Amino acid sequence: MPVESNSKNMHILNNKTTPSPVPVLAIDGPGGAGKGTISRLAALKLGWHYLDSGALYRILAFAGTLHHIDLKDEISLSKLVPALNIRFGIGSDESVWLDDQEVSDQIRTERAGAAASIVAALPLVREALLQQQKAFRRAPGLVADGRDMGTVVFPDATVKVFLTASAQERAQRRYNQLIAKGIDGKLCDLLADIQARDERDSNRSVAPLRPAADAVLIDTSQMGINEVLITVLNLINLQTP
Ligand code: DC
Repeated sequence: MPVESNSKNMHILNNKTTPSPVPVLAIDGPGGAGKGTISRLAALKLGWHYLDSGALYRILAFAGTLHHIDLKDEISLSKLVPALNIRFGIGSDESVWLDDQEVSDQIRTERAGAAASIVAALPLVREALLQQQKAFRRAPGLVADGRDMGTVVFPDATVKVFLTASAQERAQRRYNQLIAKGIDGKLCDLLADIQARDERDSNRSVAPLRPAADAVLIDTSQMGINEVLITVLNLINLQTP
């Protein structure tokens, strides 16, 4: 069936005009591959909204702990989801709020990441968070960062990117970040954490970490941030008017 686009970004189908879906740039990949940095910069450049889906899992694990809920208690955790009042800073403001408390630092620790990875393996939790993630899709566009953005949450994303880097390189980057913040860390411990998280995220039964069939794979091990950003922006510019 012929579909054309006019200047107002509308599809004309059988003489009826329907709005085009809001474009989504889905950026998936393992922790430490640079998804967060690239997604934020891409969203700023494009003037699009940004979804940090990992933060939702991190906040849920944090809130579960506050409520003394076991991190494997799937039913209690999924029931907690609708009660979560989460706010994100806009643009370059990277703050994250739960109710009236800024939780940016608490949810960014290695421990919080490991806890997030445990709750993220629970099918009811993933289901409970699905609609909330979809609701981030608002005009003029969305950059969605996670593990299953292109496979489950936005399977019709305009462009799907899968960013990877070797575990060694990701551990080294994390180590450099910690040192820059004046926080002590051991490279071998960070590498072990990254490998454990990769293993859990890739082998869970629901929405495991893997590239969508139509994702563009980018190995960032030997690439600078700017080079990755330009590659990603070129992909989206080719697909959007
Ligand atoms: O991207 P991140 O490190 O903030 O993610 C924290 C954990 O949440 C990660 O170990 C896997 C999980 N996660 C997920 O399962 N699905 C997503 N879309 C995002 C994160």
